[in-house]
Order: sequence, then C-alpha cells, then structure tokens
Amino acid sequence: MSFESGEFRQALGCYPTGVAVVTALGPDGARLAMTANSFTSVSLAPPLVSFCLDRASVWFGAFQAAGHFAVNVLREDQAHLSDDFARIEGGCWQGLDTVTWRTGCPILKHALAAFECRVHARHPAGDHVILVGEVLGIASDGGGAPLAFFRGGYRRLAGEG
Ligand SMILES: Cc1cc2nc3c(=O)[nH]c(=O)nc-3n(C[C@H](O)[C@H](O)[C@H](O)COP(=O)(O)O)c2cc1C
Repeated sequence: MSFESGEFRQALGCYPTGVAVVTALGPDGARLAMTANSFTSVSLAPPLVSFCLDRASVWFGAFQAAGHFAVNVLREDQAHLSDDFARIEGGCWQGLDTVTWRTGCPILKHALAAFECRVHARHPAGDHVILVGEVLGIASDGGGAPLAFFRGGYRRLAGEG
C-alpha cells in the first residue's frame, strides 16, 4: 500500500454522498438506528440496495443479526439526526415522528425518502460487512432537498431546497 489511511480517507471524502439513518429491530424488539453514508443502489430488478456496516461499531452485532432494515434518507435540515444517531448513547427517539410498515423497522416520517428492506445478502468486506437489502417498500413523496456529506462535513446542494 503506497498511501496512509489518512490520505485514503481524504480521497474518499472527495466523493459526495447523502446521509441516511438505517434502522432495524434488535432481537428483543428494541429499535436500532445508525447513521450511514455508505447507502447505495445496487439493482433495479430485483430492487436491491446496500450499506456497509463497520465491524467496530457498537451496533455491529445487532444489525448483522437483523433480518430486515430500513434506510431513511435525511433532509438538509436533519443534520442533528445524523449526529444523534452516530452516537453510542442514542436516546434520540423522543419527539421523533416514526411509522412502521411491514417489518416493524422504524421509518422516519419526515425523511426525504425511505426504503424498507429484507436482508438479501451479507458480504464480508475488510473491516466492514456489506448488507444488501431487497426493497419491500418505498416512500419519496413531498419533494425537498437532501443532506449532503462531503470532505467530512455536512453540505447543502446548491440550487436545491
Ligand atoms: C455522516 C456519517 C456517516 C456514517 N456512515 C457510516 C456507515 O456507512 N457505516 C457505518 O458502519 N458507520 C457509519 N457511521 C458511523 C456510525 O453512525 C457510528 O459508528 C455508529 O452510530 C455507532 O457508533 P460507534 O462507532 O461509536 O460505535 C457514520 C457516521 C456519520 C456521522
């Protein structure tokens, strides 16, 4: 390897992404949520999406074991939710409007878009596991602008919103 991990992170940060809160249910039925910007589309037919789960995350065991997950794409004014759900302590559900669809995974009512998924595959990939989900349900009505993430910080898309 001819580069340091800091340089690798810096280069990766040049690729702008959205920000999502991925939710699931734990074995005891408790709600789980984790901020992720590794969400991506995988296949149109069948409809598949994925995100990468850090093996070092406090949530690794619970998300890895879950049979379903939901991806909630954040709006530009929801950076606080990204910060909240990236913290171990969690406890951010209070005052947050959520609904459930088929699987019971929490769907954030005011998300820009939501994808409810059944786990289709788990692929080990270095220090992460790629979780591929078959999409069972979607919502993306209402318009609005996404929260973007670029070079380690939150951004707004110029001309949107
Ligand atoms: C903008 C942003 C994007 C993130 N993307 C991911 C991701 O794609 N996959 C992941 O496993 N963790 C990601 N994280 C970190 C997790 O949200 C965080 O590790 C997790 O909530 C648990 O906290 P811990 O790392 O202290 O155990 C991201 C955090 C932030 C703030």
